[in-house]
Amino acid sequence: MLDGYNREIQYLRISITDRCDLRCRYCMPPGGVPPLRHADILSYEEIIRLARIFSGLGIRKIRLTGGEPLVRQDVPRLVQGLKAIPGVESVFMTSNGILLGDCLPQLVQTGLDGVNVSLDAVDREVYYQICRRDCLQQVLRSIDRALACSLPLKLNCVPNRWNRRQIVPLTRYAMERDIPLRFIELMPIGEGKNADGLSEAQVKDLIAEGIGPLTPAPDHDPAYKCRYFLTPGGGKIGFISALSHKFCRGCDRIRLTANGFLKACLQYDARIDLKPLLRETDETIRQAIAEAIRSKPQGHHFGLSPKQGDESGRMSQIGG
Ligand code: 5AD
Ligand code: SF4
Repeated sequence: MLDGYNREIQYLRISITDRCDLRCRYCMPPGGVPPLRHADILSYEEIIRLARIFSGLGIRKIRLTGGEPLVRQDVPRLVQGLKAIPGVESVFMTSNGILLGDCLPQLVQTGLDGVNVSLDAVDREVYYQICRRDCLQQVLRSIDRALACSLPLKLNCVPNRWNRRQIVPLTRYAMERDIPLRFIELMPIGEGKNADGLSEAQVKDLIAEGIGPLTPAPDHDPAYKCRYFLTPGGGKIGFISALSHKFCRGCDRIRLTANGFLKACLQYDARIDLKPLLRETDETIRQAIAEAIRSKPQGHHFGLSPKQGDESGRMSQIGG
């Protein structure tokens, strides 16, 4: 359906857990955060019921996020349930890749349409410095296995002051395997408020210096969230730059948190609690969701002074 600014909302991000097996500096404090209680988290049956209602309102694409979605049990069962909903055209997942290798066969079998793997470094030390766990080898193994079973893959990197010297090696790694690599500008949410991100322009300079200048890719769409470029040699590099290239005008998404809150915009605290509504009819829920979509804010104001009503939670609780 259309929101109040004539944007077609067709993409739902569902965070299925706020737990994670990494502690990335820009996302979590070293000791983690107190997790939600299991009783407060939506069951797979509840998620599937809600997704069916969302689909009736025009949601076509779903992405499962976390925390780390794969720390929750039995994710393939959920993917299967979501894929069976009429109107849902694709189901994707964003994962840190640690547990991905082991559940690939089941995930592929359910018809999962693709995975975005977060990879901030290809050097073990730097990976450890950023993610605070010595897990790079597991992630790289998962990527190899995903490539071997032809699951569509993309890599996500949040460029920051710790992986500045990894931008070129990461780009080479992605180019050698023909995987699109996207650089996500660090957003000032949660721990991200105190982390030093690199801008799109800084990353482009580093790639130009180490590999060569980027040129817009044939599918480059300036209005879309991710704008793609090609390296000399044909590597596909995307930029998701909420700060330097605000993309709210083309925003097509809403978010459901693990404990059942619907968030229309990443930056604002505003959310509606769908959990109590699960006791009501589908029609009541549908009306509440439609109202939340209609009142989706026009955009974020990252980079300007903070305002009352800004998001006070963490990325791992919202799903990125
Ligand atoms: N800004 C931008 N991206 C972030 N992510 C986590 N926190 C932030 C932040 N503050 C990224 C993760 C992952 C994706 C889900 O979101 O690195 O790739
Ligand atoms: Fe986990 Fe993703 Fe947060 Fe890293 S950024 S701690 S992988 S939820």
